[in-house]
Amino acid sequence: MKALNSISYPIYFENTLTELVNFINQGNYSRFFVLTDENTGKHCLPLIRKYIDKLDNFDIIEINAGEENKNIDFCVGVWKMLIDFSADRQSLLINLGGGVISDLGGFAASTYKRGIDFVHIPTTLLSQVDASVGGKTGIDLDNIKNIIGTFTQPKAVFIEHSFLNTLPARQILSGLAEMLKHGLIFDAAYWRALKVSDLHHPSAELVYKSVEIKNKVVIEDPHEKGIRKSLNFGHTIGHAVETYSLMHDEDPLTHGEAIAIGMICEAKLSNMKVGMSDADLAEIVEVIGGLYPRYTISESCYKELYSIMQKDKKNQSGRINCTLLTSIGQCRIDNICTEDELYAGLNYYSTLNNVFS
Ligand code: GLY
Repeated sequence: MKALNSISYPIYFENTLTELVNFINQGNYSRFFVLTDENTGKHCLPLIRKYIDKLDNFDIIEINAGEENKNIDFCVGVWKMLIDFSADRQSLLINLGGGVISDLGGFAASTYKRGIDFVHIPTTLLSQVDASVGGKTGIDLDNIKNIIGTFTQPKAVFIEHSFLNTLPARQILSGLAEMLKHGLIFDAAYWRALKVSDLHHPSAELVYKSVEIKNKVVIEDPHEKGIRKSLNFGHTIGHAVETYSLMHDEDPLTHGEAIAIGMICEAKLSNMKVGMSDADLAEIVEVIGGLYPRYTISESCYKELYSIMQKDKKNQSGRINCTLLTSIGQCRIDNICTEDELYAGLNYYSTLNNVFS
């Protein structure tokens, strides 16, 4: 597994912590800050400490874990810590954690003093195959995911596969949804390879391949004007379900669990609107349904889900926009979906029986 070159930065997969030290030594940084949450502070920071302990001038900033904390208040907390620690423009922020850390840390760094450098060390499967690559930074506001943010590229990404060893099974499945999506939108062979692999323990090669697919897309379209919208397959309905669950459930769905639901609904829309075959639909339902638990979405929630979808930043001129599949491994962007069509996708999911894990 070679390192990948992204838009303007490397993504390392091997000897990652040594590469981190090399990167730091070659840079001209005055100060280092490691952003963690209570989980990565406990489980991952000790693993990198022996590497960064050699550095002078580093401080740790810890925030609470969880999507509900990816908001402006925690961002202000990070900015204040940077001010308290006298971080100057030559400082480097090292984001050690999952998607909340990379999104919020990237946003805080991209705006502090008009922007300081940051790198990501993604510690969850989800952040390794998705959030850490492509330069999206952001926070949530009023229950709208990532509605405030920037496109700012990190200076490097270090993907350390061994961090996944201690990750709970539910978090592995969360990241797996994005890996499955990468196969569905662009690479039927990768989808087939995933199907026959041990999906509960994705190998380093499969993680690499997933990042390679995503990286190719973001290099071509860093600001999501065209082909990057392909990465939104499953996310129009999936994001709405995720937001709904965050607002109403005691134990909310993970991102990947919600995207799995979104992918099934949007696979049905693909079958209805852009000619994806019944056989491909059945295959997608069988694979995804076999991995994720059923989630009950009653018809009385549809209006609320629709109103969440209407606030989605992916919409154009107030119309709801989906990426759909013409077949497994091929997608089509910019499909306007009506309210009734979206409900048909949700209905399809709700009527499925005996397919869920
Ligand atoms: N998570 C989708 C993207 O980075 O564009």
